[in-house]
Amino acid sequence: MAQAYPITDHKYDVIVVGAGGAGLRATMGMATAGLKTACVTKVFPTRSHTVAAQGGISAALGNMAEDNWRWHMYDTVKGSDWLGDQDAIEFMCREAVPAVYELEHYGVPFSRTPEGKIYQRPFGGHMRNYGEAPVQRACAAADRTGHAMLHTLYQQSLKQNAEFFIEYFAIDLIMENGECRGVIAICMEDGSIHRFRSHAVVLATGGYGRAYFSATSAHSCTGDGGGMVLRAGLPLQDLEFVQFHPTGIYGAGVLITEGARGEGGYLTNSEGERFMERYAPSAKDLASRDVVSRAMTVEIREGRGVGANKDHIYLHLEHLGADLLHQRLPGITESSSIFAGVDATKEPIPVLPTVHYNMGGIPTNYHGQVLRPTDDDPDAIAPGLMAIGECASASVHGANRLGTNSLLDLVVFGRAAAIKAAELITPGTPLKTLAPDSADRSIDRLDRLRNADGGARTSEIRLAMQRAMQDNAAVFRTSDVLAEGVKKIDVISTTISDIRLSDRSMIWNSDLVEALELDNLMACAKATMHSADARHESRGAHAHEDHPDRDDENWMKHTLAWIADDGRVTLTYRPVHTWTLTDEVDYIVPKARVY
Ligand code: FUM
Repeated sequence: MAQAYPITDHKYDVIVVGAGGAGLRATMGMATAGLKTACVTKVFPTRSHTVAAQGGISAALGNMAEDNWRWHMYDTVKGSDWLGDQDAIEFMCREAVPAVYELEHYGVPFSRTPEGKIYQRPFGGHMRNYGEAPVQRACAAADRTGHAMLHTLYQQSLKQNAEFFIEYFAIDLIMENGECRGVIAICMEDGSIHRFRSHAVVLATGGYGRAYFSATSAHSCTGDGGGMVLRAGLPLQDLEFVQFHPTGIYGAGVLITEGARGEGGYLTNSEGERFMERYAPSAKDLASRDVVSRAMTVEIREGRGVGANKDHIYLHLEHLGADLLHQRLPGITESSSIFAGVDATKEPIPVLPTVHYNMGGIPTNYHGQVLRPTDDDPDAIAPGLMAIGECASASVHGANRLGTNSLLDLVVFGRAAAIKAAELITPGTPLKTLAPDSADRSIDRLDRLRNADGGARTSEIRLAMQRAMQDNAAVFRTSDVLAEGVKKIDVISTTISDIRLSDRSMIWNSDLVEALELDNLMACAKATMHSADARHESRGAHAHEDHPDRDDENWMKHTLAWIADDGRVTLTYRPVHTWTLTDEVDYIVPKARVY
């Protein structure tokens, strides 16, 4: 079959797949280090999903009041519900401060305080002095922080002569003897197939929010890295932890930044009650996202939702005044008008918890190196493969991510991956030889899909998957609902073998690309449902009503989900890193949850 698809070969020191914040930071760093670097991306870089990140990037700069990276570390470990790896969290929070100044020097147009310092706003779960009171730690460019960062990083990457292959869709990793030696991609414009050979591949492909029916994620968030990794026989970690952002616009799912509550916004139910005061007396509307999303869901379930169907909640910003909204929250003021028909300066915004972020992903260490855990070594490395950003699980977010820690994760681990690659690779070293059939399996899959003539359209299978995920792996879960979810997703995933495509051409075949994306989404969805079904406790975003308590004795461990060629899911586990990198901080001991 491979002969029917001529292959163009490329050789680089490093290939980065994905051009969001993580991919661009890695691309820029690797090119700066003298590595011949190519970035392969299915969307134009500045259209990557990072562009939608609103509220800020966390760093204990202390511009508004005293702050300390150790407090940031404590908040992140606690926010992760003690599932985060504490060495990685220490690394991220310590590196946050230089990382943000570096962005400033590259040209990110941060908002400013009257003295000209980077403006910082409060965000859920970010506290001073080990949980004492909220601290302003989110460095913001109005409510368009991701947009500002993405444009700056793209410009800096171009300045370093990194090469871009734009609108190229990566299909599969090239794995030989357990090592990654490159990636196969299709150029969407003309359908040509490309084999990118390299010493290292860095996956920076983002999350898989589109496995759900309602998500703040872009339609491009289809778990492409996760799908490639599972097909390569490697596992995904902690997929059961899916974050619901409390304030997606009702009906549209579009994000209203948590920064809105950071600036003084608050939620009310149908009785006009500021109900978060009951659920989190201290942090209130700025409690961590899992807590706020659960509280909103309980209010709706108990009949105190707003609107004709009592199925959503109000977010009030009108008391903040038009001047502040236009200066600090212009983007969401516009989104409210466009997507909810609401003038946020005058009336509340209808909101609902909406899928926003995948805490789990491709397991890595804090250098971005992908793990292939074995019984003897849970931290064993898969040579030649790295993963960063939302597709990865370092694991700095554990069971629940704090807002603004994702933009931070992108730049800290994008930079770390570049440093590690520069350490391991001497520019221009000859590449290892490849087996003649290195692309055959990928091309066979592509060809099968392109010519598929079954009974179900991609959109039908996708909708069935999204409904199952939305209904059976939601904010609250029970044993029965999850068991039903496993049955549903196992059946739905088999329908991919009965898919029907109508476009057989090679030129801009979006029918084919959507089918390839669905295959990736489905693998992530399946691993998510099985992992959630198996975890018999409640931790972070996994709220299991039949097991309402966190169970550190039995469940303070990472889930690893593997999918065999025949579609069977196997789960294994690996220990959480309960150590820190330096003696500047101690391991943070799990405590009961108090908000
Ligand atoms: O609410 C927000 O602005 C989202 C931030 C984040 O997810 O980090």
